[in-house]
Amino acid sequence: MAATWLKDAVFYEIYPQSYYDTNGDGIGDFNGIIEKLDYIRSLGCNALWINPCFDSPFKDAGYDVRDYKKVAPRYGSNSDLYRLFGEAHRRGIRVLLDLVPGHTSEEHEWFRQSQKEERNEYSNRYIWTDFWFHGARGMNYIGGESERSGVYILNFFKCQPALNYGFLHPTESWQLPADHPDAIATREAMKDVMRFWLDHGCDGFRVDMADSLVKADDEKKSGTCAIWKNVREMLDAEYPEAVLVSEWCNPPRALRAGFDMDFYLNHGGGGYITLLRDYGSPRNPGPDRSFFRKDAQDRDIRRFLKEYETWYRDTKDLGYISMITCNHDTERPSLTLGADELKLAYAFIFTMPGVPFLYYGDEIGLRYQWLPNKEGGYNRTGSRTPMQWTEGKNLGFSEGCADTLYLPVDPAEDAPTVQAQEADPASLLNTVRAVLALRHAEKDLQADGEYETLCAEPGKPFVYRRGGLVLAVNPSGETMEAPVPAVGGTALFTIGSAKAENGVVTMGPQSFTVLK
Ligand code: GLC
Ligand code: CA
Repeated sequence: MAATWLKDAVFYEIYPQSYYDTNGDGIGDFNGIIEKLDYIRSLGCNALWINPCFDSPFKDAGYDVRDYKKVAPRYGSNSDLYRLFGEAHRRGIRVLLDLVPGHTSEEHEWFRQSQKEERNEYSNRYIWTDFWFHGARGMNYIGGESERSGVYILNFFKCQPALNYGFLHPTESWQLPADHPDAIATREAMKDVMRFWLDHGCDGFRVDMADSLVKADDEKKSGTCAIWKNVREMLDAEYPEAVLVSEWCNPPRALRAGFDMDFYLNHGGGGYITLLRDYGSPRNPGPDRSFFRKDAQDRDIRRFLKEYETWYRDTKDLGYISMITCNHDTERPSLTLGADELKLAYAFIFTMPGVPFLYYGDEIGLRYQWLPNKEGGYNRTGSRTPMQWTEGKNLGFSEGCADTLYLPVDPAEDAPTVQAQEADPASLLNTVRAVLALRHAEKDLQADGEYETLCAEPGKPFVYRRGGLVLAVNPSGETMEAPVPAVGGTALFTIGSAKAENGVVTMGPQSFTVLK
């Protein structure tokens, strides 16, 4: 069962290079995050996930780790990060780091050793074939770059050689079984990294490509799951409060493998995509069927519920599904949704079971920018631009010259900022605050509160129950009605117009309500 502090947790994802720059070099830093902790708390967030902040050549924005135990100098020093842990804890905020267990940078010392012809402790830390002319069927590999004869397997980009956790059913002599001492050594090395940061005050990890460890794994990923179960045993024994959230998007599997939470992600055909991004490709949008789009074609929440409810029922006693507003790999929802649509979408995401994640900037509707590739971001680059704090120079992100910024701020005249939205009680920012304040006040809206669909019929508001509360949302431009079970009829929170009377809720255009 998941750590108890998650029951009322709301996470904020920070892309450190783009959050707040305190020394004018154009790149966000740890001191910048520390300065903004009170702001983060004011949103109603009480936990952070910081994207990889470790030493790296940044060919994949830090997902290519060169040293797991040393932070990248551009963000500050290890001591600055330890101070961040302390300052966050003082304010009741927990901090997760990003653990990248499937691969390292090709510049990691383990890999440099592994490339040597002479056998050493790291020869099997990565997956090598036995001869430079022997490739690896079904896997991406690189040859011709090392002293050692053999090719090595990649986990993602060319800069990311795969760490060796062995093969479920080895078929070649160079494939180690998953219980080979050298495959186990890789797992133990990753535990050592986890202990290092947990001992310094971090509260757990977001785990990158969590399903990618054992190779030629079966359909059920039994080899990889066995590793996570083993890691969980270590955490339970040594760090019972530590939590793990997986990039997997398969809660039944991830939670049984020992994760506390699993992300609901943008995987094509999955349920989450039908909520915010059901428009084909961003550059080539087709008809938009996203549930929260005001003019959605064939709006139908059942396309989401079909998958969600199956997962929810299967996992509610095991851990949590984490709904996200967006992340650093996904187009921002503001690409196709306006502020009124986003208010409803977030109100829904933040009132569902499980543990929600707010991506920095989504609280003000930070816009997706069409930008060239930066540090391996490609189309993801546009979702990684600086946070916009105030009017004026670099919209408050940095005192540096505009052309030194990690990425440009939004050049539009009406670029959203925290400052402008703080002043407007009906802004997206203040709506996020209000919904999160309600979530913290009502236990029924938190991670463990029961969920039940009450009305999912097209042409009617979508109505759902959380414990003793009834919630209704109407993303369309028409007024709609649905039956609601008898509740006291008091609205705790409403967006737009909503009225509940005689067992019927009447929802005005683009409205949301929570009834007690
Ligand atoms: C994950 C990360 C992504 C990264 C990839 C390789 O999907 O979220 O940003 O590029 O893994 O590590
Ligand atoms: Ca800086």
